[in-house]
Amino acid sequence: MQRNELCWCGSGKKYKKCHEEFDERIKEFKFDVFKGQTRPPKKIINNQEDIARIRAAGVINDGALDLAASLIKPGVDTASIDKAVQEFIESKGGYPSCLHYEGFPKSTCISINDVVCHGIPSQKTILKEGDIVNVDITTTLAGYYADASRMFMVGEVSAEAERLVKVTKECMERGIAAARPWHFLGDISAACGDYAHANGYSVVTDLGGHGVGKDFHLEPFVSHEGQAGTGMLLVPGMVLTVEPMINQGKKDVYIDSKDNWTVRTKDKKLSAQWEKTILITETGTEVLSS
Ligand code: MF3
Ligand code: CO
Ligand code: CO
Repeated sequence: MQRNELCWCGSGKKYKKCHEEFDERIKEFKFDVFKGQTRPPKKIINNQEDIARIRAAGVINDGALDLAASLIKPGVDTASIDKAVQEFIESKGGYPSCLHYEGFPKSTCISINDVVCHGIPSQKTILKEGDIVNVDITTTLAGYYADASRMFMVGEVSAEAERLVKVTKECMERGIAAARPWHFLGDISAACGDYAHANGYSVVTDLGGHGVGKDFHLEPFVSHEGQAGTGMLLVPGMVLTVEPMINQGKKDVYIDSKDNWTVRTKDKKLSAQWEKTILITETGTEVLSS
């Protein structure tokens, strides 16, 4: 690309005033193939306008999660939470990205106890005292996506369930704290997984985080356990999710054949998950949805 041409990122600025230095830095980078270090593809680098749009989707998404939080209590069915969230997102001009995504029938994923993720809200699924519940919401606004989830404890829960929820949140926070520009994706994985393992838990590896922003699921796949210094180079403008699924027992999961969506632990023990959408900035990270 010529220095006076418009930059490939779509900013409308000249290349020399936009991503020229960035490209030079990547070009000079010594990728260690033995550590599986890879270059990020251009299509997952967001410009300032893209970022502003993902941020705006994130504001609605956070509001939807706040609404869900206010509705969690014993006796409530999960379809009613889903409906309220759908109406909220639509009232803000957004779209609940999960609805009809690859045939998913509802606007949110609500996953209780041994359900790892992708639980389908239902009038027949009633929250009860002692449950631990994940509500995972993604909002599309003007073609841009923000994706986050939180755990909730219904009434009083067992000490062991509460510990799982807290440790899982800390796994996510440590993963995010490890994310730095010009360092590697594996730093996030290692920080998440090491903390889970140190607490006696296992990490689900059949599913993971992902690039997000211009689409729902983009490169890279974000593993929640792994080795620091491995995988894709993290650069400013990348947006991804950190969403560890942490199990009380073994890591093994299966998809329930009753609906072909619900992911459960094989050993029926508890699983927890927290998710944020983060931006890699020049100096660290910015949370775009949580
Ligand atoms: N929000 C989930 C994620 O974190 C994806 C749910 S897809 C659905 O990536 F189809 F199950 F809704
Ligand atoms: Co999600
Ligand atoms: Co996600």
